[in-house]
Amino acid sequence: MTANVINGKALVASIREEIKRDVQEMANAGKQPGLAVVLVGDDSASAVYVRNKAKACEEVGIYSEVHRLPAETTETELLTLIGQLNNDERIHGILVQLPLPKHIQEDIVIDSISIHKDVDCFHPANVGNLMIGKPGVLPCTPSGVIEILHRLQVPLAGKHAVVVGRSNIVGKPMALLLLQEHATVTICHSRTERLAEITRQADILVAAVGRAKMIKKEHVKEGAVVIDVGMNRDENGKLCGDVDFDDVLETAGYITPVPGCVGPMTITMLLKNTVAAAERAGSHVSPE
Ligand code: GUN
Repeated sequence: MTANVINGKALVASIREEIKRDVQEMANAGKQPGLAVVLVGDDSASAVYVRNKAKACEEVGIYSEVHRLPAETTETELLTLIGQLNNDERIHGILVQLPLPKHIQEDIVIDSISIHKDVDCFHPANVGNLMIGKPGVLPCTPSGVIEILHRLQVPLAGKHAVVVGRSNIVGKPMALLLLQEHATVTICHSRTERLAEITRQADILVAAVGRAKMIKKEHVKEGAVVIDVGMNRDENGKLCGDVDFDDVLETAGYITPVPGCVGPMTITMLLKNTVAAAERAGSHVSPE
């Protein structure tokens, strides 16, 4: 059997059309969602991500502004900018691209973003709401993965989902969202013993470890849905995921390509979160 390669481009295009319609409706009511993206330093991968985010905003009619700050920016200067964006009525979403330079404490920066404008769902208050299943903003990559699974009508209730990776951005929230979908969830990571024995039990396998091509066919059950969150460079400098795509292709039931599926879907969820934040704006008591 050869896996169904998930057509990320088509999925993303149809969701972005829906978002574009929502933005148009808001425009008719005299409102435009706005996103501020903050990039500190000159990490080349981050620069590409930030450019793609701004381009996607333009495509659907969201106002966006990118603040590119030098690597020497101090924590205080960054906090001052975030303070201004928190109080800027044109801005409904604030995204500070990670990683930040080492001399800036990420948690202090994240804590300073208004919980109402936290379109990444990185603020501890929003993470807490996610943990207890309260409605609110959802983190972009994990909610993008759930969106892919829903649109493909992959059954999740009662199924075994294995997440490889335990980061705050992907692994942990991914496990929570799968749990909310009533999957039986296992989290594996770099210290997991006999990894393949566990991942081979997965009906749904989400790879989010950040190690090029580490998931091979011996890690995958016949017919499993394999979602690759990785974005790495292989030995020839070519973009690749955490899954060895060619090796797994004959075993998996569904597989996401890298690049071209989870990445653009993540940005699509960012657009969705920005529109939702704009829709909510004005409904809370005081800006923070
Ligand atoms: N760096 C890598 N992924 C992300 C993300 O989803 N959001 C932000 N802000 N930074 C990132």
